[in-house]
Amino acid sequence: MTDNKMSFELNKTTVIVTGAARGIGLAISHRFRELGATVCGWDLDCSPIENDSAFSATFTVDIADEASVKLAYERSLETLGSVNTLVANAGVNGPTKPAWEYTLDDWNKVISVDLTGVFLCTRAVLGEMRKNNFGRIVVMASVAGKEGNPGACAYGAAKSGVIGYVKGLARELLPSDITVNAIAPVITETSLLDEMTQDYIADKKSRIPMGRFCTPGEIANMTAWVASPLCSFTTGQVFDVTGGRATY
Ligand SMILES: NC(=O)c1ccc[n+]([C@@H]2O[C@H](COP(=O)([O-])OP(=O)(O)OC[C@H]3O[C@@H](n4cnc5c(N)ncnc54)[C@H](O)[C@@H]3O)[C@@H](O)[C@H]2O)c1
Repeated sequence: MTDNKMSFELNKTTVIVTGAARGIGLAISHRFRELGATVCGWDLDCSPIENDSAFSATFTVDIADEASVKLAYERSLETLGSVNTLVANAGVNGPTKPAWEYTLDDWNKVISVDLTGVFLCTRAVLGEMRKNNFGRIVVMASVAGKEGNPGACAYGAAKSGVIGYVKGLARELLPSDITVNAIAPVITETSLLDEMTQDYIADKKSRIPMGRFCTPGEIANMTAWVASPLCSFTTGQVFDVTGGRATY
C-alpha cells in the first residue's frame, strides 16, 4: 500500500466511523463511500442513518463504554469481514462555562467520551490491524487541543490528550504499516454549535484568519486523504484544518 502512483481511491478501505449519524462524521462517511470505501457507522443514536445507503452497517454504541465498544467491534467485524480503518470522530463539547463552574460530572462526561472513548475504539481495532500489519487510524482532535478554548477547558484538555495519545500510539506501532494521525479542525458548522453560547461562537469566528467557519466537507476531504493509501509515510501527526488560525 505504498505505491505513490495509486489514484486517490478507497476501494480497499473497510472503515468504522464513530459519531457517524450527523455533522462531521456523516460528511466523512459519505466522502469515504464516494471514494469506494465500505463504511460502518457507529453512533449513540443511529436512527438518522438507518436507511442511508452510504452505510453497509450501522451500530448503536456508546464509545465511552468498554463493553459497548467491544460488542460493536465484534459485530462490525462479522458484518464487514475486516476493518482496516478507524475514524475516531465522535465527541462532545460539554457545557461552555469557566472551569471553576464545572462539576466533576461535567468534566468526567467530556473526558470519558472525547479521550477515553478514543482509547477504547482504537484499542478495539488494533488486534486485527496488528495481525495484518496494516491499518489507518484517524482521530478527530481540535484546534482547542493545541491552543485551549476559554469556556471549554475540559474539551481542550481531552483534545490535547488525544493528540498526545496519537503521537505515542503511532510510535508504539512502528515499524508496522499502521498509521495513527489526528485532524485538528477549527469551529465547524454542525450541531456541536448548539452546545455553545452565541458569544462563544462569535469569539471563535473572529479568530479565524479566513473569516469563516470550516465546513464538514473540508474535514471529510482531509480525513479521506490521511486514511488513503497515498498517505503512507506519515504517522503521529496532526493535520490542521483551521483557515490559518493554528500556527503550529
Ligand atoms: N463542530 C466543530 O466546530 C468541531 C471543531 C473541531 C473538532 N470537532 C470534533 O469533531 C467531532 C465531530 O463533531 P461534530 O461537530 O460533527 O459533532 P455533532 O454533535 O454534530 O456529532 C457528534 C456525533 O457523535 C455522536 N456521539 C456523541 N457521543 C457519543 C458516544 N458517547 N458514543 C457514540 N457516539 C457519540 C453523536 O450522537 C453525534 O451523532 C468531535 O470529536 C468534535 O470534537 C468539531
